[in-house]
Amino acid sequence: MYKIAVIGTGYVGITSAIGLASFGSNVRGLDIDVAKVARLNQGELPIYEPGMKESFDVNVNAGRLSFCSDIDAGIKWADIVFIGVGTPQGEDGRADLSAIFSVAEQLSHNINGYKIIITKSTVPVGTNEKIRDIIAKNNVLNCEFDVVSNPEFLREGKALYDFLHPDRVVIGVDNPRPLEAIRKIYRPLFLNEVPFVMTDLRTAEVIKYAANCFLATKIAFINEMARLCDTVGANVQTVAQAMGKDGRIGSKYLHPGPGYGGSCFPKDTHAIAVLAKDYNVDLAIVEATIASNELQKQYAARKIIDQFNGDLHGIKLAILGLAFKAETDDMRDSSAIIIINEVLKYGAEVVVYDPQAMENAKSLWGDSIQFAIDEYDAVKGTDGVVIITEWNQFRNMDIERIINSMRGEKFFDLRNIYKHNEVENYGALYIGMGI
Ligand code: UGA
Repeated sequence: MYKIAVIGTGYVGITSAIGLASFGSNVRGLDIDVAKVARLNQGELPIYEPGMKESFDVNVNAGRLSFCSDIDAGIKWADIVFIGVGTPQGEDGRADLSAIFSVAEQLSHNINGYKIIITKSTVPVGTNEKIRDIIAKNNVLNCEFDVVSNPEFLREGKALYDFLHPDRVVIGVDNPRPLEAIRKIYRPLFLNEVPFVMTDLRTAEVIKYAANCFLATKIAFINEMARLCDTVGANVQTVAQAMGKDGRIGSKYLHPGPGYGGSCFPKDTHAIAVLAKDYNVDLAIVEATIASNELQKQYAARKIIDQFNGDLHGIKLAILGLAFKAETDDMRDSSAIIIINEVLKYGAEVVVYDPQAMENAKSLWGDSIQFAIDEYDAVKGTDGVVIITEWNQFRNMDIERIINSMRGEKFFDLRNIYKHNEVENYGALYIGMGI
């Protein structure tokens, strides 16, 4: 059985650690954040993710999963080291690779026998080669190693499921030596005939960005159609359904909304656009997607402001949903941030509710907005309600109760959860996205 160290216990790191332990390996999660490791050792997960805690407990109790903040010792202990540290957006739109390179330095001092270094983090083209070079340059104990690119395609909210049931696994290598070990640690996936794409390091790096940019483009495209439908009086929902029936297009990622957010699409579209510029390549579609998504966030805010004739003084709005999507407490690049800041700028009083993201929201806005205990509490005495995130509990609300406890009658459904008549039957005005 392989001993695997996973460096980084953020979204990708913790999911990979639990997933690899579920596949039977002996896994140690490593993180420099001592407090986080202490919480993990007490059974506390750093993120909210449905179903993850159960699997975490099973693997910890079986002795296959542990956590430690001594990264040097963890590297020495392991046969295989996964890199799962963050690559956030840097100031100029580039991926900030400082954590990646500092891990590479640390690896170079601690490789004490043949090891396989596998990069799970999303990294720009050429990064795995740089990791290899940093390790090779210092390689203090002069041991052999291989670097592998194995980008992760999990979605927040379905992280562990996606890790355990991937559509495909991408493996980039510069020689075949590490492949046997990779087949072993992913054996359950091979048995289930999950497609493995074996390629070189650079192609693997591009695949990850290409997939995210394509999905982001699909969303930006349907959001543009929603803006058009709003103006010409057509229904984007029906447009998306009909488009999706074409097998070449497919129905997924054609749901209009307030613009995509999260820790991946915004960051990755920017990172590849900047990288392409460095190589003098013009990624016109990716650039347009970035711009179109910004436009959509502004458009969503504008929809609300225009309904009150451009002045929100004396207007109270209930915002339902803050996370960038349902089933996560993550608010990174959430459209809710832009929309709330815009309506505050125009003078609105804002009360918010989100099933998971309230703590994050408190640290963002403090006293400048109000925090409700649930959706019914939030809407009391408001002039308008705005659904931003499609949480299940907002999908089947008692609309009559909502409308009756409001002061006004404007119902903004930025995720198109409801139909016009489901809201308008109670005397409210329904405002969706392109419907
Ligand atoms: C995304 C990708 O889907 C994953 O495959 C990838 O591994 C991950 O980024 C990553 O790079 O780590 P994630 O950011 O968790 O996953 O979220 P998605 O479920 O893809 O949603 C992203 C955003 O698009 C959300 O704001 C969501 O509300 C929005 N969206 C999605 C739409 O507005 N419409 C849609 O039809 C689909």
